[in-house]
Amino acid sequence: MLITKPPMGWNSWNTFGENINEQVVRETAEAMVSKGLRDAGYEYVVIDDCWALNDRDENGRMVADPEKFPSGMRALADYIHSLGMKFGMYSCAGMRTCAGYPASFDREFIDAQTFADWGVDYLKYDFCFFPHDRNPMIYYNKMSMALKATGRDIVFSACNWGTHEVEKWVRSTGAHLWRSTGDIGERFTSVRDISASQFGKWRYGAPGCYNDMDMLICGMDGIGNVGHPGLCGDTEYKTHFAMWCMANSPLMIGCDVRRMRPETVELLTNRDLLRIDQDEECRAPIVVTTRGELAPTMFKHLSDREFAIGFFNFGDDEGDPDLRTWDIGFPTTAGFGLKLREVFSGETVDYTDDYFEVKLAPHDCKIYLGSYVPKA
Ligand code: GLA
Repeated sequence: MLITKPPMGWNSWNTFGENINEQVVRETAEAMVSKGLRDAGYEYVVIDDCWALNDRDENGRMVADPEKFPSGMRALADYIHSLGMKFGMYSCAGMRTCAGYPASFDREFIDAQTFADWGVDYLKYDFCFFPHDRNPMIYYNKMSMALKATGRDIVFSACNWGTHEVEKWVRSTGAHLWRSTGDIGERFTSVRDISASQFGKWRYGAPGCYNDMDMLICGMDGIGNVGHPGLCGDTEYKTHFAMWCMANSPLMIGCDVRRMRPETVELLTNRDLLRIDQDEECRAPIVVTTRGELAPTMFKHLSDREFAIGFFNFGDDEGDPDLRTWDIGFPTTAGFGLKLREVFSGETVDYTDDYFEVKLAPHDCKIYLGSYVPKA
């Protein structure tokens, strides 16, 4: 199965952790519809860890915890499908999941069949408690084969946190996305460090298999499993989301959608940013760090001869990151200028110089969509 755009949806972990249940999932799916998120492209509703009973049934199948999921997974999948969305679940390549629940090591084929029988469309596959003497590539490949053997189209989301040089082999396993980093937390330093760690690794992403920089913290507002009150506000959420879009990352919302503020809805449904994220060519940006890693500037080709330029200020002081256009191979002698529009403010720039500087508040960013115009 070829997926041609980075997956978009919601995942339960960042906010709900172990406190996940059927009611939360149903209400989240309903809120995704009523707030326009489904229609903006957020289609996968994914239950992360902590959904299963400790013991398998007499046939060796995993069992959903009946206290958390009294109607069962099949009914929940049917409900999510009835809303026009897709249903995702979670397991792990090791002996237990990260939170200690049953995992799929050497049970890949029976577990894949269970997920397919439940109507699952997406599987996140974690890496905790994986035996050191085994080859991760073979075990990710094993689950991928198990999913395909069911005959159901299931997006395979590999999650080994960027270890074992995963970017070099994951595409061969049939995975559709791979987690490239450790877990995100609701801290701007976490966003900054994840971003910087991938400057040289975005290039491994391509249509069909995408570099997943972890679930979004936008709109968490200090609440939940990885929430940290007071460390992130709308500026930090904006820069985080813009960076994930420049990076072609999958966009899995991590906040409580039911209480999502209008500002967060507006950010996550920004059409220009989604166009940049979902561009079918999936080109990694060229990263220019003439002012160091705290002020990266990026140029990204889009389809239809358009492009995006992003200026980021990861520093705690006001900054003025710049782009010397010769650093991306664009001299004033080109005979062309650049027509730019900033995606948050709508500011337009007809640009003919070879030196471009922007003023940025701490933690802020500016993202321009651009096209080429012949000089008069
Ligand atoms: C790991 C993953 C997280 C989440 C938890 C669940 O830490 O990286 O994204 O799935 O496990 O326990």
